[in-house]
Amino acid sequence: MISKFSIAIALLALTTSANALWPIPQSYKHGDTTVWLSPDVQLVFDSPLETHIATKNKVREAWSRTRGIIFQERFVPWKFYPRGTKFEPENGIGTVIKKVFVEQTSVDKPEPVRYGEFDESYTLTVPVTGGNFTSLGPYGVEATLGEGGEPGAVYITAGSSLGVLHAFTTLTQLFYYSNSHRGGVYSKLAPVEINDKPKFQHRGLNLDVARQWYPKEDILKTIDALSWNKMNRLHLHVTDSQSWPLEIPALPDLAAKGAYADGLTYSPQDLQDILTWGRSRGVEVILEIDMPGHTTSIAEAYPELITGRDKQPDWVRYAAQPPSGSLKLRNPAVKKFLTTLFDDLLPRLRSHSQYFHTGGDEVNKNVYNLDENIKSNDPAVLQPALQDFVSHAHTELGRHGVTPLVWEEMLLDWNLTLPKDAIVQTWMSGESLKKVIEKGHRVIAGDYSFWYLDCGRGQWLDFLPASYKYFHPFNDYCSPSKNWRLVYSYDPAAGLTQEQAKQVLGGEVHAWSEQIDPVNIDSVVWPRASAAAEVLWSGRTDAAGNNRTFPDASPRLAEFRERLVLRGVGASPIQQLWCHQHPGGCQL
Ligand SMILES: *[C@@H]1O[C@H](CO)[C@@H](O)[C@H](O)[C@H]1NC(C)=O
Ligand SMILES: *[C@@H]1O[C@H](CO)[C@@H](O)[C@H](O)[C@H]1NC(C)=O
Ligand SMILES: *[C@@H]1O[C@H](CO)[C@@H](O)[C@H](O)[C@H]1NC(C)=O
Repeated sequence: MISKFSIAIALLALTTSANALWPIPQSYKHGDTTVWLSPDVQLVFDSPLETHIATKNKVREAWSRTRGIIFQERFVPWKFYPRGTKFEPENGIGTVIKKVFVEQTSVDKPEPVRYGEFDESYTLTVPVTGGNFTSLGPYGVEATLGEGGEPGAVYITAGSSLGVLHAFTTLTQLFYYSNSHRGGVYSKLAPVEINDKPKFQHRGLNLDVARQWYPKEDILKTIDALSWNKMNRLHLHVTDSQSWPLEIPALPDLAAKGAYADGLTYSPQDLQDILTWGRSRGVEVILEIDMPGHTTSIAEAYPELITGRDKQPDWVRYAAQPPSGSLKLRNPAVKKFLTTLFDDLLPRLRSHSQYFHTGGDEVNKNVYNLDENIKSNDPAVLQPALQDFVSHAHTELGRHGVTPLVWEEMLLDWNLTLPKDAIVQTWMSGESLKKVIEKGHRVIAGDYSFWYLDCGRGQWLDFLPASYKYFHPFNDYCSPSKNWRLVYSYDPAAGLTQEQAKQVLGGEVHAWSEQIDPVNIDSVVWPRASAAAEVLWSGRTDAAGNNRTFPDASPRLAEFRERLVLRGVGASPIQQLWCHQHPGGCQL
Protein backbone atom coordinates (compact mmCIF):
# COMPACT_ATOMS: atom_id res chain seq x y z
CA MET A 1 0.00 0.00 0.00
CA ILE A 2 2.70 2.43 1.02
CA SER A 3 4.60 2.28 -2.29
CA LYS A 4 1.52 2.98 -4.42
CA PHE A 5 0.74 5.66 -1.93
CA SER A 6 4.16 7.29 -2.22
CA ILE A 7 3.65 7.81 -5.93
CA ALA A 8 0.44 9.66 -5.30
CA ILE A 9 2.18 11.72 -2.66
CA ALA A 10 4.86 12.72 -5.15
CA LEU A 11 2.17 14.41 -7.24
CA LEU A 12 1.27 16.83 -4.49
CA ALA A 13 -0.50 19.94 -5.48
CA LEU A 14 -0.64 22.82 -3.08
CA THR A 15 -4.27 23.77 -2.82
CA THR A 16 -4.91 27.48 -2.54
CA SER A 17 -5.94 27.13 1.05
CA ALA A 18 -7.86 24.87 3.36
CA ASN A 19 -4.87 22.72 4.19
CA ALA A 20 -4.84 23.73 7.76
CA LEU A 21 -3.20 21.76 10.44
CA TRP A 22 -2.31 23.44 13.70
CA PRO A 23 0.21 22.81 15.11
CA ILE A 24 1.92 21.73 11.91
CA PRO A 25 3.19 18.12 12.04
CA GLN A 26 6.89 17.38 11.82
CA SER A 27 6.22 15.70 8.49
CA TYR A 28 3.01 16.28 6.52
CA LYS A 29 2.44 15.25 2.93
CA HIS A 30 -0.91 15.49 1.25
CA GLY A 31 -2.56 15.38 -2.12
CA ASP A 32 -5.70 17.05 -3.45
CA THR A 33 -8.09 14.14 -3.89
CA THR A 34 -11.49 14.26 -2.25
CA VAL A 35 -12.46 11.58 0.25
CA TRP A 36 -15.66 11.37 2.28
CA LEU A 37 -16.21 10.25 5.82
CA SER A 38 -19.05 7.80 6.27
CA PRO A 39 -21.47 8.89 9.01
CA ASP A 40 -21.10 5.43 10.50
CA VAL A 41 -17.31 5.37 10.36
CA GLN A 42 -16.01 2.95 12.94
CA LEU A 43 -13.02 2.75 15.16
CA VAL A 44 -11.01 -0.45 14.95
CA PHE A 45 -8.69 -0.35 17.90
CA ASP A 46 -6.57 -3.21 16.82
CA SER A 47 -3.83 -3.63 19.31
CA PRO A 48 -2.11 -6.31 21.32
CA LEU A 49 -3.37 -4.49 24.40
CA GLU A 50 -6.79 -6.08 24.53
CA THR A 51 -6.45 -6.57 28.27
CA HIS A 52 -5.52 -2.98 28.96
CA ILE A 53 -8.97 -1.71 29.85
CA ALA A 54 -7.97 1.78 30.96
CA THR A 55 -6.15 2.45 27.71
CA LYS A 56 -8.98 1.02 25.65
CA ASN A 57 -11.55 3.15 27.41
CA LYS A 58 -9.42 6.25 27.08
CA VAL A 59 -9.04 5.70 23.35
CA ARG A 60 -12.71 4.78 22.86
CA GLU A 61 -13.88 7.88 24.70
CA ALA A 62 -11.45 10.05 22.75
CA TRP A 63 -12.75 8.53 19.52
CA SER A 64 -16.31 9.26 20.50
CA ARG A 65 -15.43 12.92 21.16
CA THR A 66 -13.46 13.06 17.91
CA ARG A 67 -16.35 11.68 15.90
CA GLY A 68 -18.67 14.15 17.57
CA ILE A 69 -16.45 17.07 16.64
CA ILE A 70 -16.00 15.95 13.04
CA PHE A 71 -19.73 15.57 12.40
CA GLN A 72 -21.03 18.40 14.55
CA GLU A 73 -18.50 21.11 13.85
CA ARG A 74 -19.88 21.93 10.39
CA PHE A 75 -16.87 23.89 9.26
CA VAL A 76 -17.49 25.34 5.79
CA PRO A 77 -14.25 27.15 4.93
CA TRP A 78 -15.72 29.82 2.64
CA LYS A 79 -13.67 32.51 4.35
CA PHE A 80 -10.48 31.10 2.88
CA TYR A 81 -11.36 31.37 -0.80
CA PRO A 82 -11.85 34.41 -3.00
CA ARG A 83 -15.45 35.61 -3.31
CA GLY A 84 -17.56 33.36 -5.45
CA THR A 85 -15.10 30.45 -5.55
CA LYS A 86 -16.75 27.04 -5.80
CA PHE A 87 -14.53 25.31 -3.30
CA GLU A 88 -16.72 22.37 -2.38
CA PRO A 89 -16.21 19.04 -4.16
CA GLU A 90 -17.95 19.13 -7.54
CA ASN A 91 -19.82 15.95 -6.89
CA GLY A 92 -20.31 13.55 -4.06
CA ILE A 93 -17.93 11.04 -5.57
CA GLY A 94 -14.79 9.68 -4.01
CA THR A 95 -13.44 7.14 -1.58
CA VAL A 96 -15.64 6.83 1.48
CA ILE A 97 -13.83 6.22 4.73
CA LYS A 98 -15.59 3.54 6.70
CA LYS A 99 -12.96 2.59 9.26
CA VAL A 100 -10.31 4.19 11.40
CA PHE A 101 -7.68 1.58 12.24
CA VAL A 102 -5.67 2.40 15.32
CA GLU A 103 -2.64 0.41 16.30
CA GLN A 104 -1.00 1.22 19.58
CA THR A 105 2.38 -0.42 19.61
CA SER A 106 3.15 -0.53 23.31
CA VAL A 107 1.37 -0.60 26.63
CA ASP A 108 0.87 2.74 28.35
CA LYS A 109 3.19 3.40 31.27
CA PRO A 110 1.25 3.60 34.51
CA GLU A 111 0.14 7.21 34.96
CA PRO A 112 1.14 9.72 36.03
CA VAL A 113 4.35 9.63 34.05
CA ARG A 114 7.51 11.63 34.60
CA TYR A 115 9.23 13.79 32.02
CA GLY A 116 11.05 11.67 29.49
CA GLU A 117 8.70 8.73 30.04
CA PHE A 118 5.94 9.46 27.60
CA ASP A 119 5.82 8.90 23.90
CA GLU A 120 3.47 11.31 22.13
CA SER A 121 4.44 10.39 18.58
CA TYR A 122 1.99 9.08 16.00
CA THR A 123 1.57 8.44 12.32
CA LEU A 124 -1.62 9.01 10.36
CA THR A 125 -2.26 7.99 6.79
CA VAL A 126 -5.29 8.36 4.58
CA PRO A 127 -4.71 6.49 1.32
CA VAL A 128 -6.90 6.92 -1.73
CA THR A 129 -8.30 3.53 -2.56
CA GLY A 130 -8.88 2.51 -6.15
CA GLY A 131 -12.67 2.27 -6.02
CA ASN A 132 -15.35 4.65 -7.16
CA PHE A 133 -17.99 5.52 -4.63
CA THR A 134 -21.03 7.60 -5.10
CA SER A 135 -22.58 9.43 -2.25
CA LEU A 136 -26.29 8.89 -2.26
CA GLY A 137 -27.32 8.36 1.31
CA PRO A 138 -29.39 10.54 3.64
CA TYR A 139 -26.35 12.60 4.60
CA GLY A 140 -25.05 12.60 1.06
CA VAL A 141 -22.19 10.32 1.93
CA GLU A 142 -23.71 6.94 2.66
CA ALA A 143 -21.59 5.22 0.12
CA THR A 144 -22.67 2.94 -2.61
CA LEU A 145 -19.78 0.78 -3.60
CA GLY A 146 -18.86 1.16 -7.24
CA GLU A 147 -17.10 -1.29 -9.51
CA GLY A 148 -13.93 -2.82 -8.11
CA GLY A 149 -13.67 -0.55 -5.15
CA GLU A 150 -12.95 -1.08 -1.52
CA PRO A 151 -13.98 1.28 1.26
CA GLY A 152 -11.45 3.80 2.41
CA ALA A 153 -9.85 3.93 5.80
CA VAL A 154 -7.64 5.98 8.07
CA TYR A 155 -4.59 4.27 9.56
CA ILE A 156 -3.12 5.49 12.82
CA THR A 157 -0.16 4.11 14.72
CA ALA A 158 1.13 5.42 18.01
CA GLY A 159 3.37 4.32 20.83
CA SER A 160 0.91 5.32 23.54
CA SER A 161 -2.69 6.34 24.03
CA LEU A 162 -1.49 9.93 24.19
CA GLY A 163 -0.12 9.56 20.66
CA VAL A 164 -3.48 8.15 19.56
CA LEU A 165 -5.26 11.16 21.07
CA HIS A 166 -2.96 13.52 19.17
CA ALA A 167 -3.67 11.63 15.95
CA PHE A 168 -7.42 12.03 16.54
CA THR A 169 -6.88 15.75 17.11
CA THR A 170 -5.08 15.98 13.79
CA LEU A 171 -7.82 13.97 12.08
CA THR A 172 -10.50 16.48 13.11
CA GLN A 173 -8.62 19.19 11.23
CA LEU A 174 -8.56 17.30 7.93
CA PHE A 175 -12.32 17.39 7.38
CA TYR A 176 -14.81 19.99 6.22
CA TYR A 177 -18.58 20.14 6.06
CA SER A 178 -20.21 20.18 2.66
CA ASN A 179 -23.28 22.34 2.25
CA SER A 180 -23.83 21.31 -1.32
CA HIS A 181 -23.68 17.55 -0.80
CA ARG A 182 -26.41 17.12 1.73
CA GLY A 183 -24.24 17.55 4.76
CA GLY A 184 -21.38 15.24 3.84
CA VAL A 185 -18.05 15.51 5.55
CA TYR A 186 -15.07 15.50 3.23
CA SER A 187 -11.39 16.15 2.94
CA LYS A 188 -9.73 17.40 -0.22
CA LEU A 189 -6.28 16.52 1.05
CA ALA A 190 -6.01 12.80 0.33
CA PRO A 191 -3.74 11.00 0.22
CA VAL A 192 -2.39 12.14 3.57
CA GLU A 193 0.78 10.96 5.22
CA ILE A 194 1.71 12.40 8.60
CA ASN A 195 4.57 11.50 10.87
CA ASP A 196 4.52 13.58 13.99
CA LYS A 197 5.89 14.12 17.45
CA PRO A 198 6.39 17.12 19.72
CA LYS A 199 9.55 19.13 20.03
CA PHE A 200 9.01 19.92 23.74
CA GLN A 201 7.52 17.72 26.47
CA HIS A 202 5.85 20.47 28.49
CA ARG A 203 3.40 22.59 26.53
CA GLY A 204 1.26 24.51 28.93
CA LEU A 205 -0.93 27.36 30.03
CA ASN A 206 -0.67 28.96 33.45
CA LEU A 207 -4.12 30.10 34.54
CA ASP A 208 -4.59 32.24 37.62
CA VAL A 209 -7.89 31.22 39.21
CA ALA A 210 -7.28 33.13 42.44
CA ARG A 211 -7.47 36.79 41.41
CA GLN A 212 -10.77 36.16 39.68
CA TRP A 213 -13.17 33.30 40.20
CA TYR A 214 -13.54 30.76 37.39
CA PRO A 215 -16.30 28.17 37.60
CA LYS A 216 -15.16 24.60 37.05
CA GLU A 217 -16.85 24.53 33.63
CA ASP A 218 -14.58 27.30 32.34
CA ILE A 219 -11.55 25.34 33.42
CA LEU A 220 -12.83 22.19 31.73
CA LYS A 221 -13.49 24.12 28.53
CA THR A 222 -9.99 25.53 28.66
CA ILE A 223 -8.63 22.00 29.03
CA ASP A 224 -10.54 21.00 25.89
CA ALA A 225 -9.06 23.91 23.98
CA LEU A 226 -5.57 23.04 25.22
CA SER A 227 -5.97 19.47 24.01
CA TRP A 228 -7.12 20.63 20.56
CA ASN A 229 -3.84 22.57 20.41
CA LYS A 230 -1.90 19.46 21.47
CA MET A 231 -0.93 21.30 24.64
CA ASN A 232 -0.49 18.90 27.52
CA ARG A 233 -0.21 20.91 30.74
CA LEU A 234 -2.58 23.16 32.64
CA HIS A 235 -0.80 24.95 35.46
CA LEU A 236 -3.45 26.18 37.87
CA HIS A 237 -2.24 29.07 39.98
CA VAL A 238 -4.96 28.16 42.42
CA THR A 239 -4.39 30.47 45.40
CA ASP A 240 -3.01 33.96 45.90
CA SER A 241 -3.16 36.91 48.28
CA GLN A 242 -6.58 37.92 47.02
CA SER A 243 -8.50 34.65 47.43
CA TRP A 244 -8.15 31.00 48.43
CA PRO A 245 -10.74 29.05 46.42
CA LEU A 246 -9.27 25.59 47.04
CA GLU A 247 -11.11 23.58 49.69
CA ILE A 248 -8.78 21.69 52.02
CA PRO A 249 -10.93 19.44 54.25
CA ALA A 250 -8.23 19.25 56.93
CA LEU A 251 -8.19 23.07 57.07
CA PRO A 252 -11.82 23.88 56.33
CA ASP A 253 -11.61 27.57 57.25
CA LEU A 254 -9.02 28.23 54.53
CA ALA A 255 -11.56 28.27 51.71
CA ALA A 256 -14.60 28.94 53.89
CA LYS A 257 -13.09 32.27 54.89
CA GLY A 258 -10.50 32.79 52.16
CA ALA A 259 -12.72 32.43 49.09
CA TYR A 260 -14.22 35.59 47.60
CA ALA A 261 -17.69 34.43 48.55
CA ASP A 262 -19.59 31.35 49.63
CA GLY A 263 -19.67 28.83 46.85
CA LEU A 264 -16.73 30.31 44.94
CA THR A 265 -14.58 27.32 45.87
CA TYR A 266 -13.26 24.12 44.33
CA SER A 267 -14.42 21.14 46.39
CA PRO A 268 -12.35 17.94 46.42
CA GLN A 269 -14.87 16.58 43.91
CA ASP A 270 -14.43 19.62 41.64
CA LEU A 271 -10.68 19.19 41.81
CA GLN A 272 -11.00 15.50 41.01
CA ASP A 273 -13.26 16.33 38.06
CA ILE A 274 -10.72 18.82 36.72
CA LEU A 275 -7.84 16.38 37.13
CA THR A 276 -9.61 13.46 35.46
CA TRP A 277 -11.05 15.63 32.68
CA GLY A 278 -7.51 16.73 31.90
CA ARG A 279 -6.07 13.27 32.13
CA SER A 280 -8.56 11.72 29.73
CA ARG A 281 -7.66 14.47 27.24
CA GLY A 282 -3.90 14.24 27.61
CA VAL A 283 -3.65 17.40 29.71
CA GLU A 284 -1.89 16.99 33.04
CA VAL A 285 -3.12 19.53 35.58
CA ILE A 286 -0.38 20.81 37.88
CA LEU A 287 -1.39 22.88 40.90
CA GLU A 288 0.56 25.79 42.29
CA ILE A 289 0.21 27.09 45.80
CA ASP A 290 2.47 30.10 45.68
CA MET A 291 4.53 30.70 48.85
CA PRO A 292 5.77 32.37 50.99
CA GLY A 293 4.57 35.52 49.16
CA HIS A 294 1.15 35.71 47.51
CA THR A 295 -0.49 34.09 50.53
CA THR A 296 -2.40 36.82 52.36
CA SER A 297 -5.76 35.09 51.84
CA ILE A 298 -4.57 32.49 54.38
CA ALA A 299 -4.90 35.25 57.01
CA GLU A 300 -8.67 35.26 56.62
CA ALA A 301 -8.62 31.94 58.47
CA TYR A 302 -5.20 31.97 60.15
CA PRO A 303 -4.07 35.56 60.74
CA GLU A 304 -1.22 34.40 63.01
CA LEU A 305 0.60 32.76 60.06
CA ILE A 306 0.90 35.91 57.96
CA THR A 307 3.15 38.91 58.48
CA GLY A 308 2.34 42.39 57.17
CA ARG A 309 -1.27 41.65 56.36
CA ASP A 310 -2.96 44.28 54.17
CA LYS A 311 -0.82 47.26 55.11
CA GLN A 312 -2.56 50.39 53.81
CA PRO A 313 -2.11 52.80 52.23
CA ASP A 314 1.62 52.01 51.82
CA TRP A 315 1.08 48.42 50.62
CA VAL A 316 3.56 49.06 47.86
CA ARG A 317 6.44 48.85 50.36
CA TYR A 318 5.33 45.39 51.40
CA ALA A 319 4.06 43.65 48.30
CA ALA A 320 3.87 43.73 44.51
CA GLN A 321 0.08 44.03 44.79
CA PRO A 322 -2.46 44.63 47.52
CA PRO A 323 -3.21 43.06 49.89
CA SER A 324 0.32 42.79 51.30
CA GLY A 325 1.26 39.82 53.44
CA SER A 326 3.58 36.85 53.47
CA LEU A 327 3.86 33.56 55.33
CA LYS A 328 6.10 33.98 58.36
CA LEU A 329 9.53 32.37 58.26
CA ARG A 330 11.11 30.24 60.99
CA ASN A 331 7.67 29.82 62.44
CA PRO A 332 6.64 26.38 63.80
CA ALA A 333 2.93 27.06 63.25
CA VAL A 334 3.58 27.84 59.56
CA LYS A 335 5.53 24.61 59.17
CA LYS A 336 2.78 22.64 60.81
CA PHE A 337 0.24 24.35 58.55
CA LEU A 338 2.20 23.35 55.45
CA THR A 339 2.49 19.76 56.62
CA THR A 340 -1.26 19.56 57.20
CA LEU A 341 -1.96 21.24 53.86
CA PHE A 342 0.28 18.89 51.90
CA ASP A 343 -0.88 15.78 53.76
CA ASP A 344 -4.41 16.63 52.73
CA LEU A 345 -3.83 17.80 49.18
CA LEU A 346 -0.90 15.86 47.74
CA PRO A 347 -2.36 12.34 48.10
CA ARG A 348 -5.34 13.57 46.05
CA LEU A 349 -3.08 14.99 43.35
CA ARG A 350 -0.46 12.29 43.38
CA SER A 351 -2.25 9.85 41.10
CA HIS A 352 -2.61 12.59 38.46
CA SER A 353 0.72 14.36 38.59
CA GLN A 354 4.11 13.75 40.10
CA TYR A 355 4.74 17.50 40.12
CA PHE A 356 3.59 20.35 42.33
CA HIS A 357 4.43 24.05 42.11
CA THR A 358 5.40 25.83 45.32
CA GLY A 359 5.73 29.22 43.66
CA GLY A 360 8.29 31.52 45.25
CA ASP A 361 8.03 34.60 43.06
CA GLU A 362 8.15 38.20 44.22
CA VAL A 363 9.08 37.59 47.86
CA ASN A 364 9.02 41.02 49.48
CA LYS A 365 11.88 41.83 51.84
CA ASN A 366 10.34 44.71 53.81
CA VAL A 367 7.41 42.64 54.96
CA TYR A 368 9.86 40.60 57.04
CA ASN A 369 10.74 43.66 59.09
CA LEU A 370 7.30 43.02 60.57
CA ASP A 371 7.84 39.29 61.22
CA GLU A 372 8.55 38.86 64.93
CA ASN A 373 11.07 36.05 64.35
CA ILE A 374 12.93 37.91 61.60
CA LYS A 375 12.65 41.69 62.08
CA SER A 376 14.91 42.36 59.14
CA ASN A 377 14.82 43.07 55.43
CA ASP A 378 18.48 42.17 54.98
CA PRO A 379 18.85 39.47 52.32
CA ALA A 380 21.70 37.96 54.33
CA VAL A 381 19.26 37.38 57.21
CA LEU A 382 16.33 36.41 55.00
CA GLN A 383 18.17 33.97 52.76
CA PRO A 384 18.81 31.24 55.38
CA ALA A 385 15.29 31.70 56.77
CA LEU A 386 13.83 31.30 53.29
CA GLN A 387 16.02 28.27 52.67
CA ASP A 388 14.67 26.76 55.87
CA PHE A 389 11.09 27.47 54.76
CA VAL A 390 11.49 26.12 51.23
CA SER A 391 13.47 23.08 52.35
CA HIS A 392 10.65 22.21 54.73
CA ALA A 393 8.07 22.53 51.97
CA HIS A 394 10.12 20.45 49.57
CA THR A 395 10.86 17.79 52.16
CA GLU A 396 7.12 17.44 52.62
CA LEU A 397 6.67 17.12 48.84
CA GLY A 398 9.40 14.50 48.81
CA ARG A 399 7.56 12.52 51.48
CA HIS A 400 4.64 12.30 49.05
CA GLY A 401 6.88 11.39 46.12
CA VAL A 402 6.22 14.71 44.41
CA THR A 403 8.81 16.78 42.55
CA PRO A 404 8.73 20.55 43.08
CA LEU A 405 8.46 23.29 40.52
CA VAL A 406 9.43 26.79 41.62
CA TRP A 407 9.62 30.25 40.11
CA GLU A 408 13.07 31.40 39.02
CA GLU A 409 13.58 33.86 41.91
CA MET A 410 14.11 31.00 44.37
CA LEU A 411 17.19 29.89 42.47
CA LEU A 412 18.49 33.06 40.84
CA ASP A 413 17.68 35.84 43.35
CA TRP A 414 17.77 33.91 46.60
CA ASN A 415 20.37 31.33 45.61
CA LEU A 416 18.46 28.60 47.40
CA THR A 417 19.61 25.02 47.28
CA LEU A 418 16.78 23.05 45.70
CA PRO A 419 16.30 19.30 45.31
CA LYS A 420 18.39 18.16 42.34
CA ASP A 421 15.33 17.23 40.30
CA ALA A 422 13.44 20.46 41.08
CA ILE A 423 12.16 22.20 37.96
CA VAL A 424 12.53 25.95 37.68
CA GLN A 425 10.04 28.11 35.81
CA THR A 426 11.52 31.26 34.31
CA TRP A 427 9.55 34.34 33.41
CA MET A 428 11.95 37.26 33.40
CA SER A 429 14.23 36.71 30.41
CA GLY A 430 16.19 34.38 28.18
CA GLU A 431 19.17 35.23 30.38
CA SER A 432 17.51 33.78 33.44
CA LEU A 433 16.68 30.62 31.49
CA LYS A 434 20.36 30.17 30.69
CA LYS A 435 21.36 30.79 34.29
CA VAL A 436 18.94 28.12 35.54
CA ILE A 437 20.46 25.62 33.12
CA GLU A 438 23.96 26.59 34.21
CA LYS A 439 22.89 25.89 37.78
CA GLY A 440 21.94 22.38 36.71
CA HIS A 441 18.14 22.49 36.83
CA ARG A 442 15.55 21.66 34.21
CA VAL A 443 13.54 24.62 33.12
CA ILE A 444 10.11 25.66 31.88
CA ALA A 445 10.25 28.82 29.78
CA GLY A 446 7.76 31.66 29.44
CA ASP A 447 9.46 35.03 29.10
CA TYR A 448 7.03 37.79 30.09
CA SER A 449 8.11 39.95 27.15
CA PHE A 450 6.64 37.30 24.85
CA TRP A 451 4.36 34.87 26.63
CA TYR A 452 2.43 36.91 29.22
CA LEU A 453 -1.04 37.05 27.73
CA ASP A 454 -2.32 39.48 30.35
CA CYS A 455 0.05 42.30 29.33
CA GLY A 456 -1.12 45.46 27.61
CA ARG A 457 -4.53 45.72 29.23
CA GLY A 458 -3.60 48.84 31.17
CA GLN A 459 -3.33 49.52 34.88
CA TRP A 460 -5.96 48.23 37.30
CA LEU A 461 -4.92 50.51 40.18
CA ASP A 462 -7.03 53.60 40.86
CA PHE A 463 -4.65 56.54 40.80
CA LEU A 464 -5.24 59.35 43.21
CA PRO A 465 -5.23 62.90 41.87
CA ALA A 466 -1.67 63.35 43.21
CA SER A 467 -0.29 60.35 41.33
CA TYR A 468 -2.43 60.64 38.22
CA LYS A 469 0.14 62.49 36.13
CA TYR A 470 2.92 60.00 36.93
CA PHE A 471 0.97 57.09 35.58
CA HIS A 472 -0.77 58.67 32.62
CA PRO A 473 -1.53 57.03 30.12
CA PHE A 474 -1.92 54.14 32.60
CA ASN A 475 -0.01 51.40 30.81
CA ASP A 476 0.73 48.26 32.78
CA TYR A 477 4.28 47.16 33.59
CA CYS A 478 4.52 44.74 30.69
CA SER A 479 2.63 46.75 28.11
CA PRO A 480 2.18 46.45 25.16
CA SER A 481 0.05 43.42 24.55
CA LYS A 482 1.89 40.39 23.17
CA ASN A 483 0.19 39.77 19.84
CA TRP A 484 0.20 36.28 18.37
CA ARG A 485 3.02 37.09 16.00
CA LEU A 486 5.23 38.08 18.90
CA VAL A 487 4.17 34.99 20.82
CA TYR A 488 5.07 32.96 17.73
CA SER A 489 8.52 34.54 17.44
CA TYR A 490 9.67 33.28 20.82
CA ASP A 491 11.94 30.27 20.82
CA PRO A 492 12.48 28.83 24.31
CA ALA A 493 15.68 27.17 23.14
CA ALA A 494 17.10 30.22 21.32
CA GLY A 495 20.82 30.69 21.80
CA LEU A 496 21.31 27.44 23.70
CA THR A 497 23.72 24.67 22.82
CA GLN A 498 22.11 21.32 22.01
CA GLU A 499 23.21 20.04 25.38
CA GLN A 500 21.67 23.03 27.19
CA ALA A 501 18.48 22.79 25.17
CA LYS A 502 17.88 19.30 26.57
CA GLN A 503 17.30 20.93 29.96
CA VAL A 504 14.38 22.93 28.56
CA LEU A 505 11.30 20.80 29.20
CA GLY A 506 9.13 23.26 27.35
CA GLY A 507 7.17 26.35 28.19
CA GLU A 508 3.97 27.96 29.33
CA VAL A 509 1.98 30.99 28.31
CA HIS A 510 0.57 32.89 31.25
CA ALA A 511 -2.87 34.26 31.98
CA TRP A 512 -2.68 36.30 35.18
CA SER A 513 -6.21 37.25 36.01
CA GLU A 514 -6.18 40.84 37.28
CA GLN A 515 -8.23 41.79 34.23
CA ILE A 516 -9.25 38.41 32.85
CA ASP A 517 -12.29 36.44 33.97
CA PRO A 518 -14.67 33.92 32.41
CA VAL A 519 -16.18 36.65 30.21
CA ASN A 520 -13.00 37.39 28.26
CA ILE A 521 -10.69 34.45 28.95
CA ASP A 522 -11.29 32.83 25.56
CA SER A 523 -10.43 35.92 23.56
CA VAL A 524 -7.43 36.74 25.74
CA VAL A 525 -5.95 33.25 25.63
CA TRP A 526 -6.95 32.11 22.15
CA PRO A 527 -5.58 32.06 19.56
CA ARG A 528 -2.40 33.49 21.12
CA ALA A 529 -1.80 30.36 23.18
CA SER A 530 -2.15 28.45 19.89
CA ALA A 531 0.85 30.37 18.57
CA ALA A 532 2.86 29.11 21.54
CA ALA A 533 1.42 25.63 21.03
CA GLU A 534 2.95 25.44 17.56
CA VAL A 535 6.32 26.68 18.81
CA LEU A 536 6.26 24.05 21.53
CA TRP A 537 4.94 21.19 19.40
CA SER A 538 6.43 21.84 15.97
CA GLY A 539 9.36 24.07 16.96
CA ARG A 540 10.12 27.67 16.11
CA THR A 541 12.12 26.43 13.11
CA ASP A 542 11.13 24.00 10.37
CA ALA A 543 12.89 20.78 9.38
CA ALA A 544 15.42 22.78 7.34
CA GLY A 545 16.26 24.91 10.36
CA ASN A 546 14.58 28.05 9.07
CA ASN A 547 12.25 30.15 11.20
CA ARG A 548 8.63 29.39 10.46
CA THR A 549 7.04 32.28 8.60
CA PHE A 550 3.87 34.32 9.00
CA PRO A 551 2.70 33.68 5.41
CA ASP A 552 2.76 29.97 6.25
CA ALA A 553 1.38 30.23 9.79
CA SER A 554 -1.28 32.88 9.40
CA PRO A 555 -3.77 31.09 7.10
CA ARG A 556 -3.42 27.86 9.06
CA LEU A 557 -3.97 29.61 12.37
CA ALA A 558 -6.91 31.52 10.91
CA GLU A 559 -8.53 28.28 9.83
CA PHE A 560 -7.86 26.65 13.17
CA ARG A 561 -9.38 29.70 14.86
CA GLU A 562 -12.61 29.08 12.96
CA ARG A 563 -12.67 25.55 14.32
CA LEU A 564 -12.08 26.80 17.88
CA VAL A 565 -15.00 29.20 17.50
CA LEU A 566 -17.26 26.43 16.16
CA ARG A 567 -16.29 24.35 19.18
CA GLY A 568 -17.44 27.10 21.52
CA VAL A 569 -14.15 28.87 22.21
CA GLY A 570 -14.44 32.63 21.63
CA ALA A 571 -11.01 33.01 20.02
CA SER A 572 -10.09 36.39 18.51
CA PRO A 573 -9.71 36.77 14.73
CA ILE A 574 -6.29 36.63 13.06
CA GLN A 575 -6.80 39.11 10.22
CA GLN A 576 -9.53 40.97 8.44
CA LEU A 577 -11.57 38.67 6.27
CA TRP A 578 -10.31 40.21 3.03
CA CYS A 579 -6.84 38.81 3.81
CA HIS A 580 -8.25 35.31 4.22
CA GLN A 581 -10.07 35.64 0.92
CA HIS A 582 -6.92 36.85 -0.84
CA PRO A 583 -4.13 34.45 0.09
CA GLY A 584 -0.84 36.32 -0.22
CA GLY A 585 -2.65 39.64 -0.54
CA CYS A 586 -1.74 40.94 2.90
CA GLN A 587 2.02 40.55 2.92
CA LEU A 588 4.62 43.22 3.43
C1 LIG B 1 -17.24 6.92 -11.10
O1 LIG B 1 -18.66 7.01 -11.08
C2 LIG B 1 -19.18 8.16 -11.69
C3 LIG B 1 -20.67 8.21 -11.44
O2 LIG B 1 -21.25 6.98 -11.79
C4 LIG B 1 -18.79 8.18 -13.17
O3 LIG B 1 -19.28 9.36 -13.77
C5 LIG B 1 -17.31 8.11 -13.29
O4 LIG B 1 -16.91 8.03 -14.62
C6 LIG B 1 -16.72 6.93 -12.53
N1 LIG B 1 -15.27 7.04 -12.50
C7 LIG B 1 -14.49 5.98 -12.62
C8 LIG B 1 -13.03 6.27 -12.55
O5 LIG B 1 -14.92 4.88 -12.78
C1 LIG C 1 22.57 35.46 44.99
O1 LIG C 1 23.70 35.43 44.13
C2 LIG C 1 23.81 36.58 43.31
C3 LIG C 1 24.96 36.33 42.36
O2 LIG C 1 26.06 35.83 43.03
C4 LIG C 1 24.00 37.82 44.15
O3 LIG C 1 24.04 38.95 43.33
C5 LIG C 1 22.82 37.94 45.11
O4 LIG C 1 23.02 39.02 45.99
C6 LIG C 1 22.65 36.66 45.92
N1 LIG C 1 21.43 36.79 46.69
C7 LIG C 1 21.36 36.53 47.99
C8 LIG C 1 20.02 36.72 48.63
O5 LIG C 1 22.31 36.13 48.63
C1 LIG D 1 14.47 33.63 13.79
O1 LIG D 1 13.73 33.92 14.94
C2 LIG D 1 14.50 34.36 16.04
C3 LIG D 1 13.57 34.53 17.22
O2 LIG D 1 12.96 33.33 17.54
C4 LIG D 1 15.19 35.66 15.70
O3 LIG D 1 16.01 36.06 16.78
C5 LIG D 1 16.04 35.45 14.46
O4 LIG D 1 16.57 36.68 14.06
C6 LIG D 1 15.20 34.88 13.32
N1 LIG D 1 16.08 34.55 12.21
C7 LIG D 1 15.85 35.00 10.98
C8 LIG D 1 16.84 34.56 9.95
O5 LIG D 1 14.89 35.70 10.72
